[in-house]
Amino acid sequence: MDYNKDYLPLVKTMVDEKRYIHTLGVIDEALKYSKIYNADINKARIAASLHDITKNFTQDENIELLKKYYKMSEIESIPKSVMHSFSAFVYSKEYLGIDDIDILNAIKNHTLSRPAMSDLEKIIYLSDFTDPSRNLDYSNHLREIAKKDLNLAMKDALTYTISYLKEGNKVIPKITYDALNYYKEFN
Ligand SMILES: [Fe+2]
Ligand SMILES: [Fe+2]
Repeated sequence: MDYNKDYLPLVKTMVDEKRYIHTLGVIDEALKYSKIYNADINKARIAASLHDITKNFTQDENIELLKKYYKMSEIESIPKSVMHSFSAFVYSKEYLGIDDIDILNAIKNHTLSRPAMSDLEKIIYLSDFTDPSRNLDYSNHLREIAKKDLNLAMKDALTYTISYLKEGNKVIPKITYDALNYYKEFN
């Protein structure tokens, strides 16, 4: 695969304006963290560019993509709000020829996360949170931690996410709990 390819022109044709601005913000954040942690800049740019590429797909379009890699019972267990991270992974692999497992994992795990993520996965997960266009008060707090320690930032972000989901009586996927249990050991 071509690590210098710019996927943004394609992304721009596939997502709405708000999502495109968010994508630019995530790229910016991801490049900053990559410099701090010596992560591969090209991989970070590609993963950040593609992480939400299927965000504006319909439910049916997402399911069609997911069927290539997942059983129907697995697809049904994925909350609708995070389906796009899995369909973006499939789209990137199947249609864009992305074959770098670290980039693919960073796209796939940017919503639910998982225990023992790579630095690139953590960078994309955290950049999705700290993109300034989201206007979250929490982003500023998280960004300061993320600049110092990726694992502590994951612990903080997962704690925040799980309490947010609990407050809204939303389902908390097991893998996200497992991730928090993994990262809460860091201090
Ligand atoms: Fe997303
Ligand atoms: Fe995003």
